[in-house]
Amino acid sequence: MKRIFSGMQPTGNLHLGNYLGAVRNWVALQHDYECYFCIVDMHAITVRQDPAELTRATREVAAAYIASGVDPERCAIFNQSALGGLHAELAWILGTMTPLGWLNRMTQFKEKAGKRRDQASLGLYGYPVLMAADILLYHATHVPVGEDQKQHLELARDIAGAFNAQYGQDYFPLPEPQIFGAATRVMSLRDGAAKMSKSDPSDQSRINLTDDADGIALKIKRAKTDPEMLPTEIAGLEGRPEAANLVGIYAALSDRTKADVLQEFGGKGFGQFKPALADLAVAVMSPITGEMRRLLADPAEIDRKLARGADRGRSVAQPILNRTKEIVGFLQT
Ligand code: AMP
Ligand code: TRP
Repeated sequence: MKRIFSGMQPTGNLHLGNYLGAVRNWVALQHDYECYFCIVDMHAITVRQDPAELTRATREVAAAYIASGVDPERCAIFNQSALGGLHAELAWILGTMTPLGWLNRMTQFKEKAGKRRDQASLGLYGYPVLMAADILLYHATHVPVGEDQKQHLELARDIAGAFNAQYGQDYFPLPEPQIFGAATRVMSLRDGAAKMSKSDPSDQSRINLTDDADGIALKIKRAKTDPEMLPTEIAGLEGRPEAANLVGIYAALSDRTKADVLQEFGGKGFGQFKPALADLAVAVMSPITGEMRRLLADPAEIDRKLARGADRGRSVAQPILNRTKEIVGFLQT
């Protein structure tokens, strides 16, 4: 049986990078796997969040999943805290068999904690253990994530292995990472060397999943470029990060290779390429952003969909957690 678990934090400003780099891949996988797509609000609070904004962003991510084509009838879509007891309980058990040495190697913790490590919270430190619990709680076999989550996933495999070894049972399947390559890494429209990011202060740097058609087109027309023509070969994009990024976005949005895109646009200037890219981006993205706005206009319906997803999640997770507790030797009365 092939089962997928993946998640995204509800921290606002979903953008084209999140779509091309994550959600779009999930859409393709839902036909071949039983899928659990979570909105990991318990992970989000490992850094400070405004409560009202957290609630809003949770619905926004749910709407983005659905508007992008993740089918809530086919997949379980829910927020983590709706099953928070189950996730937290398994995280506790797994935390007892996770050596500090493993956690100390996590580069994301080092980056987020910075120099003031004594000020960092236990939650931030334990973040990867909760992530392991998310995955193992559903006996997920495959986990599609971006490159940046690879280390956390390897830790989840190690933790699963530690549990199985300690109790002498093959209870948790070791989850396989499905890493989306750098090919789908979308860079900022203002700086080809920086990742398109929800935390970039410039709204012009990203195409938000809440932007309308005019907004999308305008941002592409204003995107930073260089004065050269587009090259006919990929090698010609070397040292031209902005050009490479726009070509990459064109390729991703049209499901073509960059080489193929350059065959068509090589030798042409941005005066010709940008309008074509703007048209393409609007054609692909505006049905999604439009559907998102439509869904967000009815928050109660989003909440109902999430509640159904949580029910489905619980029906799989509860028996797995119960069995885990039995294996550990917790008395069940
Ligand atoms: P984040 O926005 O960092 O919480 O990431 C959520 C998901 O979107 C992760 O799977 C990331 O790998 C993916 N992602 C975020 N930014 C980008 C980007 N600029 N290009 C491609 N994928 C991205
Ligand atoms: N840490 C992941 C990220 O920031 C989100 C996440 C939490 C996750 N739990 C997960 C991803 C379980 C995959 C599986 O992108």
